[in-house]
Amino acid sequence: IEPGPNMVIFVPLNIILLDPSAGAAAVGYLAYKKFISKDKCCKAMVNLHIQKDNPKVVHAFDMEDLGDKAVYCRCWRSKKFPLCDGSHTQHNDETGDNVGPLIIKRKEA
Ligand code: FES
Repeated sequence: IEPGPNMVIFVPLNIILLDPSAGAAAVGYLAYKKFISKDKCCKAMVNLHIQKDNPKVVHAFDMEDLGDKAVYCRCWRSKKFPLCDGSHTQHNDETGDNVGPLIIKRKEA
């Protein structure tokens, strides 16, 4: 098990009591994995579903094609990605996150 960002480090008391050096080594290793190690395995992915076979998801639009207003997803949960479909509301409710769309609109003359 890899320690996550909110995981509590737990080392059984009997390990510490029977062999304090092993207990100290275990605590040190787990603390290293939690706070210092940069293993990719412990970092959360932002993109869970969109074009996972693509090494990098990129979208480009011409400014002239945007119309008066364009709303782009930044939570990566939209079924109409890269456009926002409001899925960020459910994501925020479920996770406590606070993400929302990027809105680009033409200035009123
Ligand atoms: S659906 Fe992703 S920001 Fe709205």
